[in-house]
Amino acid sequence: MEPFKPLAWSPQYTVHDTELDTQHQKLFSITNEVLALYENGSAELLPSLRDLVEYLCTHIRSENKVMLDCDYPGYAAQNKQHVEFIDKLQNFLKNYREEDENLTYNMLFYLHHWIYSHTINMDLKYGQHLLHTRTVDKK
Ligand SMILES: [Fe+2]
Ligand SMILES: [Fe+2]
Repeated sequence: MEPFKPLAWSPQYTVHDTELDTQHQKLFSITNEVLALYENGSAELLPSLRDLVEYLCTHIRSENKVMLDCDYPGYAAQNKQHVEFIDKLQNFLKNYREEDENLTYNMLFYLHHWIYSHTINMDLKYGQHLLHTRTVDKK
């Protein structure tokens, strides 16, 4: 299996909110840590995965609050993706067994892909809304 490509945050992924940008950077780095543990064959993957899911829940709460505060029209679609993702991860975690290599790989593959593509696609859309509404507010 191909090694996972580490996630790299870049200024072009800004959502025009300093706190959320910091959270995205941290999310990328925690994900990279979990992937590194996996690739080094660590048996201690589960606690790190749980920490990652917990951090994701914190991030999602922050994001939802910002979207609601600025009346983002795409809130429902965003939150639907958030809920589906957390549900799926929690389901993976419930079935997690260290010896089940396929399940672990599938879970990490999904997680790696989702975090990156959600952040640089869906999240950028509310970022544009924030940029626009916050600029308008300042006038
Ligand atoms: Fe996000
Ligand atoms: Fe999001």
